[in-house]
Order: sequence, then structure tokens, then C-alpha cells
Amino acid sequence: MERRQLLKKSALAIAAFTFSRDLFAREAEATAASYGYLDYIKLSSNENPHGPSSPAKKAMMEAVNGSNRYPWEVTTQLREKIGAQFGLKKENVIIGAGSSELLGVVSTYAALKKGNAIAPDPTFRLWIPAARKAGLDVKLVALDKDKVTDLQKMKEQINESTQMVYVCNPNNPTGSIVPAAELEAFIKQVPARVIILLDEAYTEFSDEPSMARLVNDYPNLVVAKTFSKVYGMAGARVGFGLAHPDTIKQLNDMQPWANAGASAVSLAGALAVVQDNSFIAHCKSENQKARKIFTDALTKNGIKFIPSHTSFVYFDPTGSGKDVAKLLEANQIVGARSFEEKSPWLRLSVGTVDEMTKVSKVLNS
Ligand SMILES: Cc1ncc(COP(=O)(O)O)c(C=O)c1O
Repeated sequence: MERRQLLKKSALAIAAFTFSRDLFAREAEATAASYGYLDYIKLSSNENPHGPSSPAKKAMMEAVNGSNRYPWEVTTQLREKIGAQFGLKKENVIIGAGSSELLGVVSTYAALKKGNAIAPDPTFRLWIPAARKAGLDVKLVALDKDKVTDLQKMKEQINESTQMVYVCNPNNPTGSIVPAAELEAFIKQVPARVIILLDEAYTEFSDEPSMARLVNDYPNLVVAKTFSKVYGMAGARVGFGLAHPDTIKQLNDMQPWANAGASAVSLAGALAVVQDNSFIAHCKSENQKARKIFTDALTKNGIKFIPSHTSFVYFDPTGSGKDVAKLLEANQIVGARSFEEKSPWLRLSVGTVDEMTKVSKVLNS
């Protein structure tokens, strides 16, 4: 396929926004076809451009040799190390093939009793279609005027049929965050029979702490985290959940084998990076630098944006008078896309400093 055709295919796949999971599949198809042929900047899926870390790569390559064996031992080690990082035990940890698997496991578990679930809108929605099929009536609650999750309104929606509330903090696609004190107060107020699925995929990019320290006191709280974002291993597919040991047992029962979704190679990479605080600090600081280059360009162009606590920025290009998504695509920068129906707001992932400098030049041109 020609370079031009490939770019068009990729841009179309990304522009063809749909509220369903098809988006992921289409994007994957377009970019996989393009690898090795196209020199473009991909800013569509909030991937970490600095990963995997060198120790993680080395560990993954070495683990290939042992991948004729089931990875029970490394799974246990990883659960222990993750637990220790949060002042918890391995019994507090469930491993999945990405946190996506765990969002599915928790919401399907909640759906066993039927009833409803409450989630902000817009938010990370990939788990919703399966949860609905499994019997949960997922009610969406609009964000507040600043595009921050409206916990008060979500709380008001809880009734006797509510089985689960989903909170993504910081929220995707807006990058906004609810401060820890407010979130903690919310966790304490949600009735104990309602599961709180707290998605912390991006917390490490923010200055707010994880709520993992609350899981032993609140067995209805499940904190979902991932190696895909700040750890830079989206393709390795490793995620984890933190919860009370009794809750973890219930969730393990929803997996074909407990904790067996991730491969020996991926687990070895995760084990190598999990305690690598300097790599995490490097990724966080590079993200902040690159994000500032981008938001400075947005400001310069009269473009409104939501202050971001993540590796992406949500902005409304209306004020610039430019079709920003088209302009970026014309310059081989793909990924600016919409997450709200009939809304001008777009999300763009933050890449490297060099990539965001190019984005900024294009916006200023
Ligand atoms: C908020 C949020 N949660 C979960 C995920 C799923 O990540 P993974 O399955 O790669 O861990 C993503 C991916 O983009 C996300 O943005």
C-alpha cells in the first residue's frame, strides 16, 4: 500500500470515532499495517513513548527461554512486590492481561446480581458493553462544568439496585482529577454492598496518592492499575487490581485460572519495572515537560483545555478557528479525536518532548 493510502487509512480509522469497542480494533488494524512503512507520530492511545525500560526489555528477552513453563512463580513474586509497594500483601493483589481484563472481571462480578451501575460521562468506557450484556444497567452521570467527575451527583444516583460505581481518577478522556480527600470521603459514603471500581490507570502521572491504602478497610473497593501507562508496557498486557483478600478471592473465581492472564515474558518485564522508581520519575517528568510544550501552544492559539493530570490533554479547538485534527493529520500526527457526541472537544496523547514540539510548531504555523 502506498504511503499516502496508509496514512489516509490510519487517519480514517482514528477519525471514525464510535462509542463502541470497535475503535480499538480498527485503530490496531490500521497502525499494525503501517508499522515499518510510515513515519508518523501516533498520539491516540495514551501510550508511554519512553517504555519499556531497559531492565524490563532485558528481563523479557531472558524470560523467552523459560516460556515453555507456566509462570506460577513469577506471578507470585510479582503479586508480592506489587503488594509491598502499596503496604499490602500478595493476597490483596489480582493480576490480569491488562487492567482491561480486570475492569471486565469486576463489572461482570457486579452484574451477577443484576441491577445498575453508575459511571461518569465521558469516561473510559471499554468495559461498559460487556457489563450491559451481563445484566448491569449502566447509568451515566455528566461531569461537572469543569469536566471533573461529579461524585456528589453520582452518589445521588445510588439506589437499592446499585451494584457498582465506576470512578476513573484521573479521568480519561478529560485528564481532570478529583482530589484525594474528596475521593476518600466518597469511598467512605458509598454503601458497603456497592462495589467501587476505582480505575487508577494514570494516577502515577498526578501528584495525588493512590487509594490502595483503603482496601483492607473497605472490602467493596477495588483499585485497578496497569503496567500500560507510566510503566510503558501497553503491549505486554499486564494489569493488577488491589482489594481486600476476600474480594480478591471472589474476583479470582471469575478468571478461568486465578492470575493466569499474562504471559511469562510480560510478567518478567513487569517484575523488572515495578520497583524502578527512577524510571517512573523519569517518565512522569518527561510527560510534564512535553505536556507543557503542548498546552503552551494551545494557549498561544486561543484553545481552551482542561488542566491535565495525565499523559493526554482534552481541548476545545473552537477558539483557534482551525480544524486542529485535520491540520495535525496533514502533518502526519494522528490521534486527536472526539469522545463526546456532538462536541468539539478532542483528546490528544502526550508524546515525547520532540513530538510535542512538532505538534506545537504545526499548531503555530
Ligand atoms: C482509564 C483507563 N483504564 C484502563 C485502561 C486499559 O489499559 P490496559 O488494559 O492496557 O491496562 C486504559 C487504556 O487506555 C485507560 O485509559
